[in-house]
Amino acid sequence: ADPLRIGIAGLGTVGAAVVKVLTTKAAELTRQCGRPIEITAVSARDRARDRGLDLSAVQWFDNPVALAREAEIDVFVELIGGAEGAAREAVISALSAGSHVVTANKALLAAHGLELAEIAERQGVLLNYEAAVAGGIPVIKTLRESLAGNAPTRVFGILNGTCNYILTRMEAEGLSFDECLADAQRLGFAEADPTFDIEGNDTAHKLAILTSLAFGTRISAEDIYLEGISNITQADIRAAADLGYRIKLLGVAQRTTTGIEQRVHPTMVPTASVIAQVHGVTNAVSVETDILGELLLSGPGAGGNATASAVIGDIADIAKSRPGFQHGPVFGRPVNELTPYQQAE
Ligand code: HSE
Repeated sequence: ADPLRIGIAGLGTVGAAVVKVLTTKAAELTRQCGRPIEITAVSARDRARDRGLDLSAVQWFDNPVALAREAEIDVFVELIGGAEGAAREAVISALSAGSHVVTANKALLAAHGLELAEIAERQGVLLNYEAAVAGGIPVIKTLRESLAGNAPTRVFGILNGTCNYILTRMEAEGLSFDECLADAQRLGFAEADPTFDIEGNDTAHKLAILTSLAFGTRISAEDIYLEGISNITQADIRAAADLGYRIKLLGVAQRTTTGIEQRVHPTMVPTASVIAQVHGVTNAVSVETDILGELLLSGPGAGGNATASAVIGDIADIAKSRPGFQHGPVFGRPVNELTPYQQAE
């Protein structure tokens, strides 16, 4: 089959990780998808910056909207971020031009998800956004596909890696809030504007997407009760510990007799509970349903590789979504031909 041509807008922590993994794993991905995934074009604000990537064979754009409109691509990968401005305009342009879109942009989806999904549907293209919620945890696919026959009653979890990282280190090491936040920023977990992390907005964006998928309701981040962790002190954490609790920033959406309740706030969870064992940048999502019961997913929730993992899964899905594609290449190889995966850096 022809190569799948992709254009990547945004070469920050996540964009650079996506390029690195696609390059390192090119042969393996080609085998899995039955066709190569080719980076045709990229856009980033600063072309000169050394990102340690070889992009010499790739068409460069300074403007993501121009990339979306002009590049000869099958898939537009939006890793710019932000609910308005360039990201939104570029995604609408890409969908309107007939490209599939893969995005990690939870703020964009929380604000304009319905509009974008409607354009995608009209255009007959895919809008994939696994990376937008809980980093590398495949929670979108789980809700959309695996749990299709279930009616969820409650979805809740730790949806922001930065906050969980801060709370974990404040408790375990007695560090100050500011020190922990600075480390989270340095490690590439935090948003460009970290107030979105610590004031709970990022968790609310992700919760709004989960609520919509779980309950079939219109995405609405404004309806979420919101309280972040910026006022949490060492004294709060010690007081909770003395009572046998840990403080976690949770997003909760549940069916009540009066409708769907949605809230984001610091919560005292019993130290012995499973959710209290979720440490550092790890995220966790619990889904309770009528048929399955309770499902708990946990894994890396932020950072370059965790997010790239989900982005590349979404790209590979598009590469495979063609008539007659079979998973034969995945199952068909003799065991003695297997070579270990190369690790991404
Ligand atoms: N800033 C986000 C977090 C990145 O810390 O979880 C992943 O969405």
